[in-house]
Formats: sequence, structure tokens, C-alpha cells
Amino acid sequence: MSHIPVLLPESVKLLLEAPSLTTGGVVVDATFGGGGHSRALLQESMEKVTVIAVDRDPAAVSRARSLLSEFPSRFRLLTGNYADLSRLLIGIGIEHIDGLLLDIGLSSFQLEDEERGFSFQSDGPLDMRMDPAVGQPAAEIVNRADVRTLTRIFRNFGEEPYAAAIARRIVKQRQEAPLRTTRELAGLVEKMVPAYKSSRRHPATRIFQALRIVVNDELGALTQVLECGLEQLGPGGRMVVIAYHSLEDRIVKRFFRQAARGCVCPPKVPVCVCGCSPRVKILTGRGQRPTDAEIARNPRSRSAVLRAVEAL
Ligand SMILES: C[S@@+](CC[C@H](N)C(=O)[O-])C[C@H]1O[C@@H](n2cnc3c(N)ncnc32)[C@H](O)[C@@H]1O
Repeated sequence: MSHIPVLLPESVKLLLEAPSLTTGGVVVDATFGGGGHSRALLQESMEKVTVIAVDRDPAAVSRARSLLSEFPSRFRLLTGNYADLSRLLIGIGIEHIDGLLLDIGLSSFQLEDEERGFSFQSDGPLDMRMDPAVGQPAAEIVNRADVRTLTRIFRNFGEEPYAAAIARRIVKQRQEAPLRTTRELAGLVEKMVPAYKSSRRHPATRIFQALRIVVNDELGALTQVLECGLEQLGPGGRMVVIAYHSLEDRIVKRFFRQAARGCVCPPKVPVCVCGCSPRVKILTGRGQRPTDAEIARNPRSRSAVLRAVEAL
């Protein structure tokens, strides 16, 4: 099992060329995963750059061992939710950072471990918690939420056109027996979505995405880390975010545009009265995507969009 880092040279270059890192500083990799980005950041930076990695999945800690021994004075790993980034950093005495990387979503380690319940391609318990000690497993939602709630989850977080029909079917099915496994849920969805055989994506893709987002409050955590990450960045520091679906990317794009504009006056107000000034400059225009060669090498990269800003 391994995880191939996505947009690796692009993200590392953007982060290490931050003006505020010229004489050294701190880069936070808030999504350690398999450590691919952390390793490249450590290898390609100078002695005065420290990398602090964060992951909410306790299993990531075991994968950090070799980096901890190779770079004992320049690398640290913290276990926690990046939504709490400020608190995590203050806990180790860091008030300002020069770089922040968010490579959001799941690692291949998580997807391929059937016991975690993230994938409909293998059979496992319907869990989907990134930190197995926090929150309720997906099975709790699937077996307890009413039709309206399930419909809203599948529609809002999976953009699923058959949300209501699938929700009704789940509620009917669980009256006979609760849905406990990924295969049971995927099988049920498969039966509900017409013409699925002709489509490229398995119909359960959207349902699993929706449940995962809710189980881990992924969009809430993203919104929080964007704001607190930007507060933490000193002038000339850079933030790089790699998103894998439109819901995440929309949040990142809007946040960066707003931060670059500064002004929060309604469009109808002819002259700015809010007095807010731009906090960042956008470095990646419409977003950077993997090349065809990268997608061929690593199909999981195909939906990735990288956006980066520099703090002013
Ligand atoms: C796509 S993987 C990162 C892969 C990594 N860049 C690499 O090259 O190996 C995303 C990682 O972020 C972690 N993660 C997702 N949401 C998180 C959150 N709110 N707080 C901390 N870690 C999170 C996941 O547990 C997962 O390990």
C-alpha cells in the first residue's frame, strides 16, 4: 500500500519560494497522510526550514517514523484536526508560519484499508471516520437519520440527482435489517441508479463522498483552517491548497478571492466604506491542474485543483 503525492513539484516549489522563507522559517503540512509532501519539503529546503506536519488520523503517526529519524531537528508531527491549527501550533510555541499546505481529502492508505469503510470497492464496516475516536460512524447516520436528512446529505454533499429515491430506499431497507457494511450500501445504491452501467463513475461514489463529508465535518474544518491559517501566515508567507471535488474547491476559490479583494462592501455601494484591504495576492489564477502525464501515472490525481496565495 502506498500513496502517490499529487502535484508534488508544483506545490513544493510554490511553498519554498515564499519570500518570507528566504532566511528560513516554518512550513506546516496540515495533511501529512503518507508524508510525501513533507518529505519533499524537507529534502528540498535548507537547514533553517522546519516542517510541522498535522494529521487527524492516528495511523499517520506510524508512517512518520522514518522522517522523524532522518530529520530529527527539522520535523515534527502533531495528531489533531487542522480546524484547530492555531491551538495546535500555540501548544508547541509557534505563533507565525511561513507556509501552509492543505492536500485535502483521503490518502490511499485510508481508501485501501477496508476496515476504515471509506471505499465501496471493498467490503468493510460503514465507518468513514478519519479519527476513529471522534464523531459517529457512517452507519449511525445511514441507520438513524430520517428520509429528509438523508436526502439533504446526499444532495448537498454528494450532488446526487437521485438523493430522495436513495434515501427512501435506505429507510425502507433498514426496517428489515440495519445496513452495516460498505458493500450493502453500495449494492443498494447500484440498484437505485438507472443506466449506471453506461456511466464512468460508480453510482455509490457520490453517496460515499456525501457521508464521508458529514462524518468528518470536512467542509466545516476546511472553512476554519483557511481562516486561521491565513491569520497564522506572516507577510510573504504562502498557502497552497489541493482540492479534489467541486464543493471543496468552491470554498477555497471563494475564500481566496474574498481575501484578495479585501473590501466586503455590497456591490451596490459606490465607494468602499468597509475599510478592509486585501490580505493576499493570488498566485495561481484559475487554479493549477495535474498534467496528462501525472494523471496517467496516478489516476487519483485527475480531479485535483491547486490554488495558492501569498500573504501581504
Ligand atoms: C490526500 S491525504 C494527504 C497526502 C499527503 N500529502 C501525502 O503526500 O502523502 C489527506 C490527509 O489529510 C488528513 N486530513 C483530512 N482532513 C483532516 C483534518 N481536518 N485535520 C487533519 N488531517 C486531515 C487525512 O487523514 C489524510 O491523511
